[in-house]
Amino acid sequence: MTMFIAVISLFCVTALQVVLGIETYCLNNNYVTNGTHMQFTKEPSVEEFAILGTFKGLHCCAKNYRSIEWYKNGKPYPWPLTSSQLILYPEDANQTVYTKSVSEKDAGNYTCILRNDTVVHSHTIILKVLAKVPDEPQVTYVSRDAEVAIGANLRLFCEAFGGRIDLPDAHNEAIWFKMDSNRTLSNGTRIRQEKTSREDDQTFGTYLIINDIQPEDFGIYVCTIKKPGITKNLTVSLRQKVMVEYINPNPFPIEKMLLLMIAATLLLLAFFVLNLRFGLELRLKYKNTFGPLEEEDGKINDALILYSGKDEDMALNILLPKLEVDYNYKAGCKRLPSSVDAWITELHASSKKSRRIIFILSPSALNGNWDTATIYKAIKVLDSLGPSLICLVLEKLPTMKHELKNSQGETLKSTLYSVDVIDWNNPPSEKCWKNLCLRMPARRHFGLSEQNAQRPNKRTVNRQESLDNLV
Ligand SMILES: *[C@@H]1O[C@H](CO)[C@@H](O)[C@H](O)[C@H]1NC(C)=O
Ligand SMILES: *[C@@H]1O[C@H](CO)[C@@H](O)[C@H](O)[C@H]1NC(C)=O
Ligand SMILES: *[C@@H]1O[C@H](CO)[C@@H](O)[C@H](O)[C@H]1NC(C)=O
Repeated sequence: MTMFIAVISLFCVTALQVVLGIETYCLNNNYVTNGTHMQFTKEPSVEEFAILGTFKGLHCCAKNYRSIEWYKNGKPYPWPLTSSQLILYPEDANQTVYTKSVSEKDAGNYTCILRNDTVVHSHTIILKVLAKVPDEPQVTYVSRDAEVAIGANLRLFCEAFGGRIDLPDAHNEAIWFKMDSNRTLSNGTRIRQEKTSREDDQTFGTYLIINDIQPEDFGIYVCTIKKPGITKNLTVSLRQKVMVEYINPNPFPIEKMLLLMIAATLLLLAFFVLNLRFGLELRLKYKNTFGPLEEEDGKINDALILYSGKDEDMALNILLPKLEVDYNYKAGCKRLPSSVDAWITELHASSKKSRRIIFILSPSALNGNWDTATIYKAIKVLDSLGPSLICLVLEKLPTMKHELKNSQGETLKSTLYSVDVIDWNNPPSEKCWKNLCLRMPARRHFGLSEQNAQRPNKRTVNRQESLDNLV
C-alpha cells in the first residue's frame, strides 16, 4: 500500500514538474521589450510534434492582451473529446493548452486569438501526432531572413522536435554558425547563443542574440540541428536595411513629369510658331516638289483670270505679271460680262482651256449686289465651268449668320467651303501670293522668279503683251 502511494505520488510529482514546465514556459526567454502594446513575447512555433501517449502543451506567449481564445480547426474552445483532449491552463492566463496523453485525434490546427480593446492578433500552430520518435529532427520554428539597420539588436531562433533519446551521452542540440566563418559563434558581450528546451528536451532550440549590429554581422547564418546520427542545416540571411529606401520606397517622379510636360509644351509652342511662320512656305515647297504636274492635258493656260471693269488694273497689272514673270505660270484674262446669267455661255469656251479659274470677287463684279444670294449664284456658276475655282475676295463678305438654305439645302457659307477662297489685300502680301500659288498647279522650276527676286521693282508689264493672252 505504501508502495502504491509512493508510486502514485512519484507519478504526481513528475506530472506536476511537467505541468510546472508549461507554467514557466511563457515566463522565460522572452523578447527584451518594454511598451504597453499587445504582442507575442517570444517566437511562436509554427509546427508542433508529439509522440502518441505523451504529454503535450501548445503555447501562445503574449503580453498586454485582454483575452486569449483558442480554436481547433476553426472551432472555439472547449472542444468535445472526440475532437481534442487539450485543455486550457488558466494558471498561465490561457497562454497554454495541454494534454497529459496525446492521441491521434488531437492533431490539427490550433489557433490562438489575442485581443485587446483595439487590436486582434492570431497565430496558428499545426500539431502533428507521431506514432514513434522520428528519425529526422522536425523543425518547429526558424527565423525568417531579416533586414536590420546597423546598431540595432536582433535575435534569431531555431527550434526542432527530436523526441526523447534513450542513449547515454547523446543529446539533441541546435547551434548557430555564420556561413563565411566556419567557427561557432562564440559567446561574447555583443553576440551570444542561448539554448532552450521543453517537454523533457524533446523540443530543443537555440537563440542567437546579436546586439548593436555591425557591418561584419551581415551575411548568412546557419542553424545546425543535431540529433544523434543526423544533422540538419537551416539558413537565415541577414541584410542591411537601407534607410533611404524605407523613407521613400516608391517616390512619384514629379520633377521628371514636370520637366517632361514643360518640354512637351515648348515643343508644341515651337511647332505652332514655326508653322505660323514657315508652314505656308513649307507646304508650298512640298507641293512644288512632290505635287503632280498638270501638263499635257490639252489645256493652254494654267489659269483664267476673271475680273470686273473696276478690277481690271489689279488683274492685268498686278496679278497677271506676277503669275507669269515671277511664278512662271501662263494665264489668260477675261473681263466678266455684267450679268451673271450671261457668264456660262460667255466663259464656257475659254474655261475649257484653263486649269484654274481665278475669280476676283468684288462688289463691282456682281454689279454692286454684295449680298449672299448673288455671291452664292456667281460662285455656283463659275464652279460649274469645270476647272477648280479660286476666289480672291477683295472686300469683306456680307454676314452669313442668318442665311437661309436654298432649295438645294445649300448656303453661301457651305459653298465657300468647297471652293478656294483667299482674302486678297491691296497691295497683296507675300502670304496672299503663297496662298494663291498653293492652289495653282505644281511648278518644279521658277527660273525667272529668282532673277526677278533680285530686282523686284524693275518689273515692267506691257499691257499689250498681257492682252495678247486674252482669250
Ligand atoms: C481564459 O479562458 C476562460 C475560458 O475560456 C475564460 O473564461 C477566461 O476569461 C480566459 N481568461 C483570459 C485572461 O483570457
Ligand atoms: C491546417 O493548416 C494547414 C496549413 O494552413 C492546412 O494545409 C490544413 O488543411 C489545415 N488542416 C485543417 C484540418 O484545417
Ligand atoms: C573552415 O574553413 C576553411 C576555409 O574557409 C577550411 O580550410 C577549413 O577546412 C574549414 N574548417 C572546417 C572544420 O570545416
